[in-house]
Amino acid sequence: MNTDLYENARWLIGAIARGLNARQGEGIRLVLERMAEQSLGEADFRQPEPSTLPVLRHLPQCIGEVMLIEPDLAAAIAAIEDDLQWRQSSSYTDELLGEGFTANYGWSEIIGPRGFFPGDDFLLGVLMLGPGHHYRDHYHPAPELYWPLTSGSLWSRGGGAFEEKRPGATIWHPPMILHATKTIDTPLLTVWSWTRDTMTPAKLA
Ligand SMILES: [Fe+2]
Repeated sequence: MNTDLYENARWLIGAIARGLNARQGEGIRLVLERMAEQSLGEADFRQPEPSTLPVLRHLPQCIGEVMLIEPDLAAAIAAIEDDLQWRQSSSYTDELLGEGFTANYGWSEIIGPRGFFPGDDFLLGVLMLGPGHHYRDHYHPAPELYWPLTSGSLWSRGGGAFEEKRPGATIWHPPMILHATKTIDTPLLTVWSWTRDTMTPAKLA
């Protein structure tokens, strides 16, 4: 077993749990409860095949920003960044989501079938969206929490108006609610979690 990587994965999960525990917001307690139910022992650990994506060119800028608000989490992400498996939803194309979208979007599971621990119908990961992109209305049965770590992202829920969320705010999406995310001038790095019903992927509206 790669003990350093196991320790780094545990550090990252711990940093996310400590950060969430310090916040108030819809869904946070549920995510923390579900996190606490996951098996994160050495026997559960696997090393994902690392993979990168074009959107990762924005990661250094994002980590620099996270250093200012959540230094422990920023350091944990930096320690593990070369070992993350970055992926995209296979149904997402530039035709559907706008020119350049696939060069500006990606997510990586920390807990989940492609993460460091498989999880029990639970996903925890990070997502990136490059500047000037619109991840338009979509929905899924899984209840979802986002915790944006960078500034300048806009969020819409239930077809409502886009609202800018400061870094450190959290956003909760109940099952099947429409939601969308936009960036303007700066890239977004956000923690994300699905607490159950994780087998059904997101669908564009
Ligand atoms: Fe979602």
